[in-house]
Amino acid sequence: MARERLQKVIASAGVASRRECEELILTGVVRVNGRVVDSLPAFVDPQTDAISVDGKRLKPPLRVYFALNKPKGVICTNRDPQGRKVAVDLVQCSQRIFCIGRLDADTTGLIVLTNDAELANHLTHPRYKVPKTYIATVKGRLDAEAVQRLKRGIWLAEGKTGKAAIKVLKAGHQESSVEITISQGLNRQVRRMLANVGVPVKSLKRTSIGKLKLRDLAVGRYRPLTKAEVAALQAAPPAAAQTKGGRVRAKSPRSNGRRRDERKGDAS
Ligand code: URA
Repeated sequence: MARERLQKVIASAGVASRRECEELILTGVVRVNGRVVDSLPAFVDPQTDAISVDGKRLKPPLRVYFALNKPKGVICTNRDPQGRKVAVDLVQCSQRIFCIGRLDADTTGLIVLTNDAELANHLTHPRYKVPKTYIATVKGRLDAEAVQRLKRGIWLAEGKTGKAAIKVLKAGHQESSVEITISQGLNRQVRRMLANVGVPVKSLKRTSIGKLKLRDLAVGRYRPLTKAEVAALQAAPPAAAQTKGGRVRAKSPRSNGRRRDERKGDAS
């Protein structure tokens, strides 16, 4: 994850210009994890690889963490071939950052951006799925039977979803709103679960990831996480310890039960 060109990483550490760093590499004075790297291209993970120039070890770049209230129409990959706006462009940061997990383009709300691949692995690994809470506005009335079905789990193509926590915030005939907490990251999971019980989503917003809350962060705005917030995300326990049965019957740990085509646009 997060591999970058070696000359760029050395240049970012202030050693010399990128061009000069390329020459340094070719002269054989650069080592990565103890081994001389003297040809290009070469790629490294600046957080985890030990890089030295002339025997001097470079410090790994500072780890940064932001909470963003993602607007509608913005996507969570770092680049979009279709030219849509990407979430990383909304956060001013000199480090190379990326989103942890995804929200689909139509969904707004809380997303964490960081350069910490270790935290990203921790939070996105099926074993460590932290509960995520969403508020959905849906078409029609969400009745008691639908609520019970959502709570017990819904059969989707991948299998039965885990138990969900459900709080109906408003139950109108034309429109209802509901707070839903799930621990998996299936593609467009909340939209599919609600459509399955007959109430298609009109709008969807994520309000928390584990203990991290969106609070009053305006749409399109971001803020750095506090040390306590980062520590709470790092300490997130395995999903099985949080909710009984809070896991889709996964076909494999890597796919989390999703078909290859469905994993492509993953929104967790
Ligand atoms: N569920 C969805 O339907 N969309 C998201 O972005 C996240 C969860």
